[in-house]
Amino acid sequence: MASEEQSPATDVWSQWLLHRRHGGDAEYEQAMRAMVERYVERVLDGARLEAGQTIADVGAGEGLLALRAIERVGGALRVWLTDVSEPMLHHARAQALEHGVADRCTFVRAAADRLEGIDDASLDVVLTRSVLAYVHDKIGALREFHRVLRPGGRISLAEPVFQDEAVAAQAIRTVIESKPPAAVSPLMPLLHRWKAAQFPDTEEKIRASAIASYSERDLLRFAQNAGFAEVHLELHIDSFPSIVRSWEVFVNSSPHPLAPPLSVIMAEQFTAAERALFERSMRPVIEDPRAVSTDRMAYLTARKPLA
Ligand SMILES: C[S@@+](CC[C@H](N)C(=O)[O-])C[C@H]1O[C@@H](n2cnc3c(N)ncnc32)[C@H](O)[C@@H]1O
Repeated sequence: MASEEQSPATDVWSQWLLHRRHGGDAEYEQAMRAMVERYVERVLDGARLEAGQTIADVGAGEGLLALRAIERVGGALRVWLTDVSEPMLHHARAQALEHGVADRCTFVRAAADRLEGIDDASLDVVLTRSVLAYVHDKIGALREFHRVLRPGGRISLAEPVFQDEAVAAQAIRTVIESKPPAAVSPLMPLLHRWKAAQFPDTEEKIRASAIASYSERDLLRFAQNAGFAEVHLELHIDSFPSIVRSWEVFVNSSPHPLAPPLSVIMAEQFTAAERALFERSMRPVIEDPRAVSTDRMAYLTARKPLA
């Protein structure tokens, strides 16, 4: 990977992971971290780690999978932490030092579909979480995981499935376009501007989008196409009381690293009157104690065949 310096101020990944994801709210951050910890535990359950193994946490971010793997297994687990974001690699290295496990870790700046520096057939397990979602060539990344794994090695991953959000954005656009302007509620174009800024809203854009062009079934097929066997996929759809409790958190957080927060969308695309209408209509919905969130996460495990 090219070694040009990345500034933390302009790196979308660290900006989101370390700041924007939590909307500047400690309570929301805690609730979000608890959710992420549950994903991490499931990925590690699927990995069936053993002492003495060499593994990779691809797109490691803060290094949550890597650090928890070392904590779980103890023993001499060796971990490669890879990421495209230099600021996140710095952050993960600081975390590993703080946990006293940096000597077990190797940090490499590399894209998931080009794990430069990691030898063929050198790993026992590849872990990744919420990374393939942002990679256009998902089969290429899975082929790369296959390359670095020894025969019999495993992958265990979790990826969000964002297709429904894109379909919702597309549906709002279709409703607006199918009616004469006077018959469209003034809220609809605002809902559309919000959704379309965060998710693709046409067939063409969905097809071209890394985050919304795949379903859980595609993930399974991609793993098979990349040469994996014993592919097991579970789609978990959880509906639960919304962890976004206030309008302020809602407007300042964003659902994924490439999505601008609503506060930015409103500042750039809404007039003052539109902002007032949107808040008047949506604040009660967001702050309703009965509000629910729905989460779609695909967990996949597979094995590289022995021969
Ligand atoms: C949503 S975060 C997930 C971080 C971490 N895996 C976790 O579970 O907390 C996505 C991570 O993927 C990294 N990333 C984005 N595109 C990537 C790519 N093409 N190859 C490798 N990592 C990538 C980002 O820098 C970021 O750290």
